[in-house]
Amino acid sequence: MPAENDVTADRKAVHGRSALRVLSVVGARPQFVKLAPVSRELARRMREMECQVDDLIVHTGQHYDGTMSKIFFDELGIPTPVLNLGVGSGSHGDQTARMLAGLEESLVRLEPHVVVVYGDTNSTLSGALAAAKLHIPLVHVEAGLRSFNRRMPEEINRIVTDHLSDRLLAPTASAMSNLQREGLAERAFLTGDVMYDAVLHSGELARIRSSILELLSLRPGEYGVVTVHRAENTESGILMRLMEALERAAKRWGPLAFPLHPRTASVIRAVLPGWSPGPQLRIIEPLGYLDMLALTASSKWVLTDSGGLQKEAMFLGRPCVTLRNETEWTETVDAGANLLAGPDGARLDECLERWSALRGLGQYPAQAVESIFGDGRAAAKIVTAVLEEARHGSCGE
Ligand code: UD1
Repeated sequence: MPAENDVTADRKAVHGRSALRVLSVVGARPQFVKLAPVSRELARRMREMECQVDDLIVHTGQHYDGTMSKIFFDELGIPTPVLNLGVGSGSHGDQTARMLAGLEESLVRLEPHVVVVYGDTNSTLSGALAAAKLHIPLVHVEAGLRSFNRRMPEEINRIVTDHLSDRLLAPTASAMSNLQREGLAERAFLTGDVMYDAVLHSGELARIRSSILELLSLRPGEYGVVTVHRAENTESGILMRLMEALERAAKRWGPLAFPLHPRTASVIRAVLPGWSPGPQLRIIEPLGYLDMLALTASSKWVLTDSGGLQKEAMFLGRPCVTLRNETEWTETVDAGANLLAGPDGARLDECLERWSALRGLGQYPAQAVESIFGDGRAAAKIVTAVLEEARHGSCGE
């Protein structure tokens, strides 16, 4: 990820006065995926002369390893951020506070007409707080998600961000209902899920370009994919039980490819020094978006604590087991595409038995995707809403 903390970040140097200044705050992996279709749509509207826009991206630096950040910008063709705050790791308070201070300064300098935040990370929360305090119109993409578990940092981030936002862009009908219940219906709009846009756009590219299956010597339909990174799952006792459950699953059901998140890697190093997994549990480096899509698309099943991957599994027609007790993507469970195994994988074997039996019967609810997540054109609706807010924000200039 290029760091751009130089004079190019000065507002006058990066845009002309008449353009609408749309500033996206991103910092963590899933936000790059959500930003890509939005940036692409902004570029399309500019090409077709529908409007003049400066697409300004500020990267908080929450994720900084090349495999967690730069590769996503490269593969997805996202414009280079005008600023990278280089905040890095820290406790929640420390990380959020440093982002807030850096973002406040950036917003004062860049004078955007609208700020757009994505998802539910600490970068989302900081962007929302900075914009709201400076009275800059704020749009939240992927609004209205609730796990109803306030022990998750992401749940706190979602609630605060939604209540601060001027426009709440919800991916699903159930997200809309959550917003309505909290008295936010007037500001809420159903756009569909922008991650579905991303999968439709990159799916074919992933199939052509990725050679991840050959690299890992895996055969289509004969392996599972695992990801684990959440605070709850990486608590040392839970993570040890989960790793045992994964090793048992790999032994019984076949190889599991496990791209390891740095948070999980560091807990494993601390609590299980010298541990080496059995041959069927294939621990690998974090993957870029195209390799991850290709790996998921050809897998037998997906075992994850990630919100994004639960949906991607369903978009790609792969059975999912969520390594949590609840999920904010309840519609994947209701549709019969997702089973909950608990954060330590206590019910993992049971879930895989169930999926195995259902696979035999050829049952998978693929047709439910578009009725739940929209038609894959969420970015167009998002950009229309963002530009409306930007026009409000530019009044009086
Ligand atoms: C964050 C988000 C989570 C999102 C996830 C995607 C919050 C509260 N959580 O979790 O919602 O699903 O990103 O990955 O914002 N680290 C590195 N290199 C990196 C990034 C992180 O080594 O490039 C390590 C650091 O030791 C850090 C730890 O991972 O302390 C956790 O990173 P952090 O940004 O706090 O949260 P994630 O677990 O990535």
